[in-house]
Amino acid sequence: MKTYIHCKSFPTPFLKTLSLLVFCTAFCSIGIELSFSQEPTLVLPLKTQVVPTGSVPRSANKLPFHHNVSLTVSLTVGTPPQNVTMVIDTGSELSWLHCNKTPNFPTTFDPARSSSYSPIPCSSPTCTNRTRDFTIPASCDSNQLCHATLCYADASSSEGNLASDTIYMGSSEIPDMVFGCMVSSFSSNSDEDSKNTGLMGMNRGSLSFVSQMQFPKFSYCISGSDFSGLLLLGDANFSWLAPLNYTPLIQISTPLPYFDRVAYTVQLEGIKVSDKLLPLPKSAFVPDHTGAGQTMVDSGTQFTFLLGPVYTALRSEFLNQTSGVLRVLDDPNFVFQGAMDLCYLVPLSQPTLPRLPTVTLVFQGAEMTVSGDSVLYRAPGEVRGNDSLYCFTFGNSDLLGVEAFVIGHHHQHDVWMEFDLQKSRIGLAQVRCDLAGKRFSLGL
Ligand SMILES: *[C@@H]1O[C@H](CO)[C@@H](O)[C@H](O)[C@H]1NC(C)=O
Ligand SMILES: *[C@@H]1O[C@H](CO)[C@@H](O)[C@H](O)[C@H]1NC(C)=O
Ligand SMILES: *[C@@H]1O[C@H](CO)[C@@H](O)[C@H](O)[C@H]1NC(C)=O
Ligand SMILES: *[C@@H]1O[C@H](CO)[C@@H](O)[C@H](O)[C@H]1NC(C)=O
Ligand SMILES: *[C@@H]1O[C@H](CO)[C@@H](O)[C@H](O)[C@H]1NC(C)=O
Repeated sequence: MKTYIHCKSFPTPFLKTLSLLVFCTAFCSIGIELSFSQEPTLVLPLKTQVVPTGSVPRSANKLPFHHNVSLTVSLTVGTPPQNVTMVIDTGSELSWLHCNKTPNFPTTFDPARSSSYSPIPCSSPTCTNRTRDFTIPASCDSNQLCHATLCYADASSSEGNLASDTIYMGSSEIPDMVFGCMVSSFSSNSDEDSKNTGLMGMNRGSLSFVSQMQFPKFSYCISGSDFSGLLLLGDANFSWLAPLNYTPLIQISTPLPYFDRVAYTVQLEGIKVSDKLLPLPKSAFVPDHTGAGQTMVDSGTQFTFLLGPVYTALRSEFLNQTSGVLRVLDDPNFVFQGAMDLCYLVPLSQPTLPRLPTVTLVFQGAEMTVSGDSVLYRAPGEVRGNDSLYCFTFGNSDLLGVEAFVIGHHHQHDVWMEFDLQKSRIGLAQVRCDLAGKRFSLGL
C-alpha cells in the first residue's frame, strides 16, 4: 500500500536533499516517515555579524559558509552555548538537532546540559496550532510532550520532541527558538549526515527558522569558484549589488495532495539550451489538478530535477548540442544518484572539459543560466578504463518518485538569491559570490 504524503526536506548529503511531496511506502503507516532528501551542498563555518547600519534598514545577520554537498552553518545553542552545525534547507520547515548520540550521528546537542532548554507539551498551542503543515501530524508521547516525525524524499527520517532553547548567531541572541530535539534518525547517507548536528528549516511554514525570526527577507550567495558562501538573514540593500530580477512566489488557496504550500514555489516557463528554447508548451510547467508539477527552490537539494517529459526534451537537446564534442556513456545500468541517466566519458588525462552549451531556466520575470562546468558533475569514484564519468546535473524527477520540479543549490552558484517574504517573491542576479563575500567581510 502506498500513500502520498507531503514531505519536508531532510539533509541527505551527497545524494540530494529534496524537500517535497513524497511518495511514501508502508513505513508511513506505522509512523515512520520517509522522504527524499536532496541535500544542499554547503558546509558553512559560520560567524554571524551584524551588518553595519547605514547599509541596511534593520540589522541583518550574515553568516559566511562553506559548501560542498550541503550548505551548512555553524551556530551555538543553549546555556551554556553548545556548538552545532546545521544544513540550510529552504525546502523544509522544522529545524532540528540530533539529541541522541549514536555511531551514525556522533555530533549532537545535549539538552541535559542546557539550563534554558524546555520541552514543549502537546497541550501547547505551538504543538496544536503551528504544526499544521507537517506531513505527519504532531502527536503526544507518553510524557504528554509534543512528538514530531519528519519525512524526507531520500528515505531519510527523524523523530523526536519539539522543544525550545536559546540560539546564538554572532552577536544576536534569540530566546525560545522552537526546534525538534531528535532521538531517532534514519539516514540514507550517514557519511555526510554524520558531519552535521541537524538542519535549519527555512521554508514558509509557521515553525520554520525564518518564520519564527520574522525576517522580512533573507539571501544567500554560493560561490562557484571555491567552497565559500554567505547567508544573510534580514534586509539587504547594497549599492554594489546588481539590480535583482524578481519572480513571484506562487501560492494556492486550496490544499492539493501533491502541492507543498509552504515551499518556495516559482513558475518555470521554459528551458533553453544555448539560445534554443525547448519546444514545450507552457502547460508542461504548470501544476495539474493534484498539485503535481510545482517548481520549488530548494537549498537542501544538490542538483535539479525535472518531471519526465521536460527532462526528456532537455536531455535530447543537450545530447544533440554535445554530439561530436563529448562521448556518451552507453550503459543503461548506470544512473547517477538514481535520477541522472546522461553521463559522458572524459579521459582521465584530459584536465578540462570542452566548452559546453549553457542551460537557462526561464521563470516568470527572471532567468537563471547554468554555464561552464556546472552543467556536468564528475561522478565520484567512477572510472571506466582510462575515462572518468561526468554526468548531466539535471535529473529526472520521475526516477526519484518526486512529483515536482526541484531547483537544487548546484545551479544557484554565483547567483545572488533573495527570498523576499514580505513581497512574496524571489530576486536573483548573477554575481561573483566569492567577491560578494569579501565585500561583506570588509563591511561594505
Ligand atoms: C566534498 O565532499 C566530498 C564527499 O563528502 C569529500 O570527499 C570532499 O573532500 C569534499 N571536498 C571539500 C573541499 O570539502
Ligand atoms: C565551539 O566553537 C568555537 C569556535 O569555533 C571553538 O573555539 C570552541 O572550542 C568550540 N567548542 C567546543 C566544545 O567544541
Ligand atoms: C536602498 O538604497 C538606496 C540608495 O542607498 C535608496 O535610494 C533606496 O531607497 C533603498 N531601498 C530600500 C528598500 O531601503
Ligand atoms: C540536432 O538537431 C538538429 C535540428 O533539429 C538536427 O538537424 C540534427 O540532425 C541533430 N543532430 C544530432 C546529432 O542529433
Ligand atoms: C589506458 O592508457 C594506457 C596508457 O596510455 C594504455 O596502455 C591502456 O591500454 C589504456 N587502457 C584502456 C582500457 O584504454
